[in-house]
Amino acid sequence: MIRKISHIGIAVQSLDSSIPFYRDILGLPYTGNEVVEDQGARVAFFEIGESRIELLEPLGPDTPVARFLERRGPGLHHVAYECDDVGGHLIEMADQGIELVDGEPRPGAHGMDIAFLHPRSTDGLLTELCEPHRSEDTDD
Ligand code: CO
Repeated sequence: MIRKISHIGIAVQSLDSSIPFYRDILGLPYTGNEVVEDQGARVAFFEIGESRIELLEPLGPDTPVARFLERRGPGLHHVAYECDDVGGHLIEMADQGIELVDGEPRPGAHGMDIAFLHPRSTDGLLTELCEPHRSEDTDD
């Protein structure tokens, strides 16, 4: 079951340059940042209601976020839906013809299991499913 929007991912060139807008102008609580090796990005977190804004800065030129920035520039990168069983959803969605980026859940930010659906199946928007671990605290 999909529960809520977990977070909205925004690709930026530099966290240092982009954090002030979200923290100081919008006034969102900034709760820290984390390197997500698997995605080749450093991710900064802002709380907004039951969801988060996540800014993604590429760790290097040969990363998915760097390639996204090259092609499309900074801006909306992905929307993430929180659910209770990423693996189960992936199997169901694949059965329904949805193209998956990840056939199996992998580690994401905040110790969550995540998986991406391919934008070809989602009207062009990279879509993430994520599942918090019941036993793990977030590390921000
Ligand atoms: Co995400």
